[in-house]
Amino acid sequence: MYGTGTDTTSTSLVWAIGELLRNPRVMKELQQEARKIGRGRPMIPEEDIEKMPYLKAVFKEALRLHVPIPLLVPRQSTQDVKIFGYDIPSGTQVWINAWAIARDHSIWEEPEVFRPERFLNSPMDYIGSHFEYLPFGAGRRGCPGIKFAATINELVLANLAYKFEFALEGEHSLDMSETDGMTAHKKYPILVKGTLYE
Ligand code: HEM
Repeated sequence: MYGTGTDTTSTSLVWAIGELLRNPRVMKELQQEARKIGRGRPMIPEEDIEKMPYLKAVFKEALRLHVPIPLLVPRQSTQDVKIFGYDIPSGTQVWINAWAIARDHSIWEEPEVFRPERFLNSPMDYIGSHFEYLPFGAGRRGCPGIKFAATINELVLANLAYKFEFALEGEHSLDMSETDGMTAHKKYPILVKGTLYE
């Protein structure tokens, strides 16, 4: 719970913030949505998150481009199968590269581009029923923390966009290189100055 629940949630938030800073048009769009929903209140409450489709699209797109657990958790086949002419015996270890699937040109249009609009008016979701998009895995070993992770991260992103204007600091802030390891972190920290939006 601690391992898969903390690291993933924080790293996906960092990636989302990084992409927002790299894409001022998207940041502006999100800020406009947040400020319309916030209406001068001290914070956007959790119950208003459902009224923010652009925010949800931003979170989904950040998870697509930066799948926090790129190789999911390994599986083992339970019976002999034939796939594309290959015999796969029972007991074979199977690794799913969710990172590569989420950047596959045959599935996604301009997969390297951060464009939340691709998730607007789209049935594509991360609950494990669309195999083109598996940031939380799928099946009975899929992530049980999806709802919690989405709520926390959307709430934080909504309120950051609502309350602050951002200015980047530091030469490496927008370098989107990844670390290796089970969870893909941003290699260089984001240095950013936030100014309260009045
Ligand atoms: C953005 C945040 C998160 C991401 C991207 C994420 C992603 C994943 C992935 C990819 C798996 C493996 C699924 C598979 O291989 O099919 C997993 C498993 C798991 N996650 Fe999450 N997770 C996140 C947040 C959380 C949170 C907040 C919790 C708990 C509060 C949590 C609890 C777990 C647990 C317990 C498992 C193991 C499930 C099992 O093996 O049966 N995760 N997560």
